[in-house]
Amino acid sequence: MLISRLLLTSDWTSVILTLFAVYISFYYYKYFSRKNKLPGPLPLPLVGNLIEVAKLGLDNVPKWFFLLRERYGDYFEFYLGTQRIVVTCNAELMDKLVDPSTKTNFFKRHPENSNISELGYNAHGIFFNQTFEGWKFNRKFLSKSLMSPKFQAELLQQQQELFCDASNYLDLLSSKIGDESLESTKINLAATMLSFNADLIIKMTTGKTGGSLAHYLKNNYPFENYKESKRLIQKSNSNSAAYEISIELTKLTRGWSTDTMYIFSLPKWLRHYVPGFSHFNKKCLNNLQRTFHILHGIIEERKNEIENSPKEMDLESNLLTLLLLANTERDPDRMIDTNGEFTRPMTKYEIGGILLEVCHGSIEEISWVFNSTVYYILKFPHVQNQFLEEIEKILGFDLARPITFEDLKKFKYLDAILYETLRLSPPLPVVGRTNTVVDEIVLDESS
Ligand code: HEM
Repeated sequence: MLISRLLLTSDWTSVILTLFAVYISFYYYKYFSRKNKLPGPLPLPLVGNLIEVAKLGLDNVPKWFFLLRERYGDYFEFYLGTQRIVVTCNAELMDKLVDPSTKTNFFKRHPENSNISELGYNAHGIFFNQTFEGWKFNRKFLSKSLMSPKFQAELLQQQQELFCDASNYLDLLSSKIGDESLESTKINLAATMLSFNADLIIKMTTGKTGGSLAHYLKNNYPFENYKESKRLIQKSNSNSAAYEISIELTKLTRGWSTDTMYIFSLPKWLRHYVPGFSHFNKKCLNNLQRTFHILHGIIEERKNEIENSPKEMDLESNLLTLLLLANTERDPDRMIDTNGEFTRPMTKYEIGGILLEVCHGSIEEISWVFNSTVYYILKFPHVQNQFLEEIEKILGFDLARPITFEDLKKFKYLDAILYETLRLSPPLPVVGRTNTVVDEIVLDESS
């Protein structure tokens, strides 16, 4: 009655403003009368607490969680768009949430979300996979490939090759300190290592030679005029098209969480029809489309190469090749299902989902851990000394000789440093779980 009178007597601006005011009142009425209230930042209608996260920058999401914990204690809540998220920092409660049993009610990593199909990976990948069977299938293939001795051996070799290229360049840079033709000879280790890891991960996942490190060094420390211009740059100059694709893929996979979080969190109508929001939505969807376009192209290309290669040929052991070969006739270790049948090979879409998650999940995390580890080693001289002693004991004085798996197993002190770094400065301090059936998590009495 009230609404129809309003429509007859008012202009559209007043109608919209009145409806908006009603919506906001209703929103906060529901918010303040919600069940099982926990402390937490006040959300805004539709966007929840996303603006706070955006202001801090997506790179600082871990910091945001630590800030919330400081402010609200071990149990708190926040809103991802319109979705209420409850956070517990109590290790005892985590046991139930991360129970690896197949009977767990908490296998899902995120809440049910109708926007996932728009992201293009509703039935693919691991993290966003909506079915237990799909999640298990993909995870099994990924674990099998990552744990294969051939993959591990190739990773160790690629890492050392790339490190030699990078350190040759950095040695050259150190020798030029004081050279007036260079604007800066200060080395930004964090940025250098991020590009280094991006190249390593792109190579190990897709088999493509990455161009991020060459691009970064060339732009920041240009040695074009020096005769010593090193292998890294020569390689990048000779294969610029492939390098550009790898740089674009790195950029897209690194931005994946922003694009995904935006689409995942905001209501469809807001993203599609409200100016400003719809512009950003289009950008995110284009990025995702482009990412899959590049990945599917690389997968098709590699699939053709494998099909046209002699069966007895020993192929590279990057993740893409291993996933394409898994459960085909060329796989010596085919998996068998509960009926005793061979499990089917993976589709292009499943492989694309995994490659995307691996690129995204590993480039940032590994760089973060590397940089934090260097920071702590330098901060504590006694740790630095003990670590140097360990290097000397295991590798001797010939630092140019290749490092083997046997060497790596002996680095016990380094292991301890890494675990302590992960404890003090975790790159991903949150683990998400959603219940698939009604269940109860009981907080302790003091909360
Ligand atoms: C030190 C580096 C890393 C850290 C600290 C880290 C941390 C994490 C954490 C906390 C999760 C959530 C686990 C859960 O929900 O149970 C996760 C999931 C995942 N990570 Fe990593 N990660 C790292 C490196 C990597 C690397 C190198 C890869 C790829 C080879 C990777 C691929 C994944 C995938 C696919 C998932 C989803 C697993 C699932 O939902 O079952 N991560 N990571």
